Amino acid sequence: MQNRIKALLEEIANLTAVTTEEVEALRIKYLSKKGEVAKLFDDFKTVSAEEKRALGQQLNQLKNKATDTINQLRENLSLQHSEVDSIDWSRTAYPHRLGTRHPLTLVKEEICEIFARMGFSIAEGPEIEDDWHVFSSLNFAEDHPARDMQDTFFIQHQPDVVLRTHTSSVQSRVMEETQPPIRIICPGRVYRNEVISYRAHCFFHQVEALYVDKNVSFADLKQVLLYFAQEMFGPDTKIRLRPSYFPFTEPSAEMDISCNICGGEGCAFCKYTGWVEILGCGMVDPNVLENCGIDSSIYSGYALGMGIERITNLKYRVKDLRLFSENDQRFLEQFKSVH
Ligand code: DAH
Repeated sequence: MQNRIKALLEEIANLTAVTTEEVEALRIKYLSKKGEVAKLFDDFKTVSAEEKRALGQQLNQLKNKATDTINQLRENLSLQHSEVDSIDWSRTAYPHRLGTRHPLTLVKEEICEIFARMGFSIAEGPEIEDDWHVFSSLNFAEDHPARDMQDTFFIQHQPDVVLRTHTSSVQSRVMEETQPPIRIICPGRVYRNEVISYRAHCFFHQVEALYVDKNVSFADLKQVLLYFAQEMFGPDTKIRLRPSYFPFTEPSAEMDISCNICGGEGCAFCKYTGWVEILGCGMVDPNVLENCGIDSSIYSGYALGMGIERITNLKYRVKDLRLFSENDQRFLEQFKSVH
């Protein structure tokens, strides 16, 4: 009987199986009620009492070994199967989904590129600002309504710290640090305490341009505005300047372009006037130059500022401002082909 156990142990150590059927056949051969192991247990009943101890142990070892080996064979097969089943080698590859650039980024980059061609370089400043850079240095009177709680987000308990309401704050930062000639373009996010609707948001984006040098005149400003408008909206675009007021420029103007939707004929978009407003501009007020340490008897400059959302709306006819911040892929994917 001992020899038989030995022979079976050797056999079991070398078992292999390629299919689940083969594993089942092995189980029946060794471990079923009439299998090899059960037969030995039957014979065991007849052995003498002295032999029982040693043989009993060996028999149990054999049974455990057979059970473990067959279980292991079954496990190996099921592992192989699940791997094979989960991979469909005939499938085509997943299409690679490329992201799209945000329309506001596209327009911001286009504006910056146009100004870069005229020698403007990019300058940036903080979104959390102090009163000096957003208002006081830019000649806002102490009681100017733009400082009002209605418009400006103040940082709690710190009346001097605000979220910038315009990118004009970058003007004064750069002028404080650099002597002319200065020729910069400042894109960035700005914040105002507005109720969110299709036409207003509590944050939006602006681009500010500033040129300070000797002998800078309003004629220089006008030429830059015309070049920008025609590069952005096409060579047939006309511009119109209307007198306006900003604390930091004197004289100040607002610029309209001929409506790029109806070509100036008059439509609902331009309220049948043929013109749409796109930016504010003017000659930098000498007070602002002096506030920032620039001698206004030697230097003069012009500045202009525009909302990127407004330009984007005109270019791509986006009717609802909220679309820009909702991250709806159906909207964003429409800008796939724009570079
Ligand atoms: N900062 C102005 C605003 O937020 C826009 C502006 C107007 C900027 C005239 C300028 C400018 O530089 O000269 O409405």
